[in-house]
Amino acid sequence: MAVAMLDGETDFDGWRKAARAFRLAGVEPAAARFVVTGGASAVQGGLFDVPHSAHCPGRGDERIEKEFNVPAAFVDLAHELILHRSADRFDLMYRLLWRLRDEPDLIRVISDRDVADALERAKNVSRASHKMKAFVRFRQVHDDRGEAWVAWFEPPHRVLEKTAPFFQRRFTTMRWSILTPDGSAFWDGERLRFGPPATRDMAPDEDEIEDFWKTYYASTFNPARLKVKTMQGEMAKSYWKNLPEAALIPELVAASSVRTEAMVATPAPSPNARFARVVAPDLHAARPNAQAVPDSLAEVSDGVQACRRCPLYRDATQGVCGEGPKVARLMIVGEQPGDQEDLAGRAFIGPAGQVLDAALAEAGIDRADVYVTNAVKHFKHEPRGKRRLHKSPSVGEVQACRWWLDAERRLIKPRVVLTLGTTAGLAVLGRKPAVMQERGAPIDLEDGATAVLTIHPSYLLRLPDAAAKAEARRLFVHDLKAARDRMG
Ligand code: URA
Repeated sequence: MAVAMLDGETDFDGWRKAARAFRLAGVEPAAARFVVTGGASAVQGGLFDVPHSAHCPGRGDERIEKEFNVPAAFVDLAHELILHRSADRFDLMYRLLWRLRDEPDLIRVISDRDVADALERAKNVSRASHKMKAFVRFRQVHDDRGEAWVAWFEPPHRVLEKTAPFFQRRFTTMRWSILTPDGSAFWDGERLRFGPPATRDMAPDEDEIEDFWKTYYASTFNPARLKVKTMQGEMAKSYWKNLPEAALIPELVAASSVRTEAMVATPAPSPNARFARVVAPDLHAARPNAQAVPDSLAEVSDGVQACRRCPLYRDATQGVCGEGPKVARLMIVGEQPGDQEDLAGRAFIGPAGQVLDAALAEAGIDRADVYVTNAVKHFKHEPRGKRRLHKSPSVGEVQACRWWLDAERRLIKPRVVLTLGTTAGLAVLGRKPAVMQERGAPIDLEDGATAVLTIHPSYLLRLPDAAAKAEARRLFVHDLKAARDRMG
C-alpha cells in the first residue's frame, strides 16, 4: 500500500503532488491511499511506501513527466471534487488520473461510471457554493474597530474557500467573518484570510438585520405559488435553522390559502417576488463551452445558473431568467435584474417592476399572460458603501447573454417583443436603437415576430419633475398599448 499524507481535507496541491508521484511509480488505484493528517504530521503532503524514484524523478523520468499531462478539464473537475464531503473522493480523483494515461479523452465520456460519478459530485459542490451565496446571513457586531458582520453557515460540502471571494467582491467595504464547521473566512477590507473551524456559539444570534430579512421574505412570499416540496428542494431544511426568515415559514405556509384567496379577490394583482429561487444543476460548470442548445425553459434556467459566458456571474447571487407562460403572445425584455431581482431570482419585482406592472394594467395587459425577461441575466453592479449600484452591461456582455435570450424567444415564440430601454433594444435588434425616435412603431424581426421599442420604466423613476414624469408615463402606456394591439 502506498500512502500519501495531506495537509487538510482540501489540500489540492498535496494531493496533486502525491498522485503524480504514485502515477509515475505505477501505483495502482487499489494500492493508493490518501490520508488527511490535518497538517500535524512532520511529512506534509509526503509519501511513504512508494519506490524512491517516484518522488525523486531522475533523468529517465523527465520523459515521463513531459508525457504526463492531464487535460485542463480534469484539473478543473478535480478542484471541485476535492471539496466534496465524501471520504472516497481522493480515490475517485486518483482513479480518473490513472485512467487518463491510457484514455486521454476519458473526461468527455460522460457515460463512464467514474466520470458520471465525478460530474455528479462536482455538481453537488457547485450547488453548495450557489446556496452559500444565497443563504449566508450576516449579523452585526461591534468591536474596538467599530461595526463588523459575522455569519454562521454549515455548507454540505467544503465550499468556504471557493465561495469566500464572492463575499469579498460583494461586501468589499464591510469587515466580515464567515464561520463554518470546516474553517472560517475573514475580510478586513484589504485581505481575505482563512482560519480554523468554528462552532455555532461563536456567531451572534439576533439583531435588527433579522427583521430586515423577515420583512423582505414575508413581502416576497407568494402564497399562490406555494409548493412545499419544491420549496424544500430549493432550500433544504438543513439551511433553515440559520436563516432568520425561516422562522416565518410555518406561519406563512399556514396562512397561504387565506392569502391566496385574498390575492385572487384583489383586482390587478402585482406579481410579487416568490420564494428565493437560487439553485440549479451546474452540469456545465466543468465544461462551460460544451453547451447544447437548450430545448426547454428548465434547460435555459439550469444553463443560466451555470453560465460562464461573461464574468457577470461572479458578483451576482444567481442568474435571473424570465418567467411567464410557456408560450406567450407578448414577451417583454428589460435590461438586467436589479438588486431585488438578484436576491429573489425573479425579473421585475423591484421598483421598476412596480412601475411596469401599473403601466401594464393601465394598458389593459395582464402580466400573467406575458413572458417577462431581461437582455442580461446577471446583475451588474458596483459596491457603494453597503449598497450595490446598478452598472449598465457592456455590448460584449449583452452579446454573450443573447444565447439565453434567443433561446427564450425560440421557446416562447412571442408575436410581439416589447423592449424596455436601449440595452433590451440592442439585444433584440442586434443594433443600438434610437429609442426616442423609434418607439411605439412596429419593427419586423427575422423570426417573424414584431418588435416594439419603448423606454425603460426606471427612466420614469428618475424624472424629478412631476409634470414631465406624468407625460413620460402617458407615452410609456401608449407604447404598451401599441404592443398590445399587435398581439393579435
Ligand atoms: N430592471 C430591469 O431591466 N430588469 C429587471 O428585472 C429589474 C429592473
